[in-house]
Amino acid sequence: MTNAPVIDLRDTTKKYDDGPPALAGVTLSVAHGECVAILGHSGSGKSTLLNLIAGLDRPSGGTVTVDGTRVDQLGEAGSAKYRRASVGMIFQFFNLLDDLTVLDNVMVPAQLAGMGKGEAKRRAVELLGSVGLDRHAGAYPQRLSGGQRQRVAVARALMNKPPLLLADEPTGALDSSSAEDVRRLLLDLNGEGRTIVLVTHDVQLAASTASRTIELMDGAVKRDVVNHGNGAGLAARTPLTRPAGGAG
Ligand SMILES: Nc1ncnc2c1ncn2[C@@H]1O[C@H](COP(=O)(O)OP(=O)(O)O)[C@@H](O)[C@H]1O
Ligand SMILES: [Mg+2]
Repeated sequence: MTNAPVIDLRDTTKKYDDGPPALAGVTLSVAHGECVAILGHSGSGKSTLLNLIAGLDRPSGGTVTVDGTRVDQLGEAGSAKYRRASVGMIFQFFNLLDDLTVLDNVMVPAQLAGMGKGEAKRRAVELLGSVGLDRHAGAYPQRLSGGQRQRVAVARALMNKPPLLLADEPTGALDSSSAEDVRRLLLDLNGEGRTIVLVTHDVQLAASTASRTIELMDGAVKRDVVNHGNGAGLAARTPLTRPAGGAG
């Protein structure tokens, strides 16, 4: 591990054809092992910021560097490879493939990365166990609750062992008990050393999960503060244990 930040944005802007810029010059860096919450009202640029870090979109200006790679300069193939190897993404509405089983959904990133099927399956089974869903490996996503689907999505995001986890409103579509499961899962993953960027408009979630909160307003950083006495590294870390087959 080096002192170089995992994420480094320099004067990063994103303009769409019409309207004010979605990102109006953001400079920030995130260190290894941090759990950073990106907070802000709807339309403040949170998803835009996350998508630029994920290499899903290109900035209009400035730079996006992740783990020493200039993500903003990658071509299409380089960008796809970067996303497979370096980032795990979790979305509000899970983005699972409905015609694949839970196990096959979790295996998708490994297969795209060229991992052998046997090895991918072993790892997927192990990951499903770690999120408490081993008994649902053969089920189709539509038979699962929202909370269970999001835990499948977390397992899938971890498949290629990415150094960076990016979550966009991961609890936004969940009931409070499932949201708490996902929150604790993220805390545990951060406790194991993974760097996490968590986009949310939920102040409580940010304060109870992240070690630092960055607030966006109109595409600019309005506030960037350390969460004292709460959040990752300080909160009690009880492992996610629940009865097998339990709801949620
Ligand atoms: N593909 C797009 N085309 C045009 N405008 C967009 C696009 N995506 C986002 N925007 C605009 O950029 C701003 C920031 O959006 P977004 O990053 O999605 O905000 P947030 O995630 O904080 O709700 C909004 O004004 C939104 O309308
Ligand atoms: Mg958004």
